[in-house]
Amino acid sequence: MKDSPFIYGVTVSSHSFTDREQESRKLRDNLINGINTMIICPRRWGKSSLVEKVIQDINRKEKIVKTVIIDLFSAGSEEEFLELYAREIIKASSGKWQEWMNSGKEFFKRLVPKLSVGTEPSSDFSISFDWKELKQHSDEILQLPETIARKKKIRMIVCLDEFQNLASFPGYETFEKKMRAIWQRQKSVTYCLYGSRRHMMSEIFNSPAKPFYRFGDIMHLQKIDEEKWVKFICDGFKSTGKKIDESLARQIPLTMKNHSWYVQQLAHYTWNTTQKTAGQPELETALRELLSANSPLYQKEIENMATGQLNLLKAILSGETQFTSAPVMQDYRLGTPNNVSKNKTSLVNNDIIQDVNGSFEFVDPAFELWFRNRYFGRG
Ligand SMILES: Nc1ncnc2c1ncn2[C@@H]1O[C@H](COP(=O)(O)OP(=O)(O)O)[C@@H](O)[C@H]1O
Ligand SMILES: [Mg+2]
Repeated sequence: MKDSPFIYGVTVSSHSFTDREQESRKLRDNLINGINTMIICPRRWGKSSLVEKVIQDINRKEKIVKTVIIDLFSAGSEEEFLELYAREIIKASSGKWQEWMNSGKEFFKRLVPKLSVGTEPSSDFSISFDWKELKQHSDEILQLPETIARKKKIRMIVCLDEFQNLASFPGYETFEKKMRAIWQRQKSVTYCLYGSRRHMMSEIFNSPAKPFYRFGDIMHLQKIDEEKWVKFICDGFKSTGKKIDESLARQIPLTMKNHSWYVQQLAHYTWNTTQKTAGQPELETALRELLSANSPLYQKEIENMATGQLNLLKAILSGETQFTSAPVMQDYRLGTPNNVSKNKTSLVNNDIIQDVNGSFEFVDPAFELWFRNRYFGRG
């Protein structure tokens, strides 16, 4: 049997990547021309995939540019971040691990890194520092890509995924000022900083009082168009010897509101249950499968919510808009106007709901379907 043409759960950058021509071009031009770029959009819309694709393009075409993508998802402290940063920058600077091992003397003045490499150099290369010194001389690490780029007469592009994670470290504000002060003077390094927590990202990059204000160009990544999805889905079925009508294929992005991950997931389940030609029953089975596969996650999500927040979600789903009007507050047991306002802010900040032209909607389309089934029955 052929592999599924639909992929979710990992970034897609060549195979199974669709559209984003305009965004790819813009991001590539920015990064090549030294314009720092921030990308903001909810999780699973396609930031990491887009950056990966653009970086692969750049790697193929631009020989004097070295690139690196660092995922900050797992960095738990400033020191861990600095070590991760140093290691990945050094690895990106050269294809030869022997050169990595020389970087200690070549690129550091005050810090003395401990370097080691195992049997599989590309994954077993490690660098560590005395953490007290590391913190004291963190500027040397932050300056590292510029130091390397100048010595080697190259340019570097540094991409930091889930950048807002740094903001949860103790002492972030001081560190933030330092990062900005050092990075903005670098002539040979361009940064791409992106993240899913919209509220935090906006606060970091959009507040005039914050150091990273006007650090570069901000891209608010949009969803991929329905038309593109329809073609993508029809082509995927066809290339694997199966068939789906355009009108049935269209129901997939419609049901999932063009959400990248879920469109791929629903397309995959539909493709998987289809023998030869997809029909309504296959699509319905696929949707049930999708909701039940994601159910544990959603269950956890609501367990972490206060009753007032759940009630507010119910009111939103019922089409209410005047949450602080007395009958609505009473019918849905929303508490006081102050409670409503607090719960609303918290749901927005956690990317559960978003304000679309003055009314609220769920950010996650499959969670919305699941929530509706659970509290209002099917229909
Ligand atoms: N350009 C694209 N074309 C097709 N599918 C995409 C595209 N971008 C993202 N996806 C789908 O969405 C999922 C999440 O993408 P990802 O890049 O990890 O999003 P983010 O970094 O915004 O959380 C991918 O696993 C893939 O299924
Ligand atoms: Mg991502």
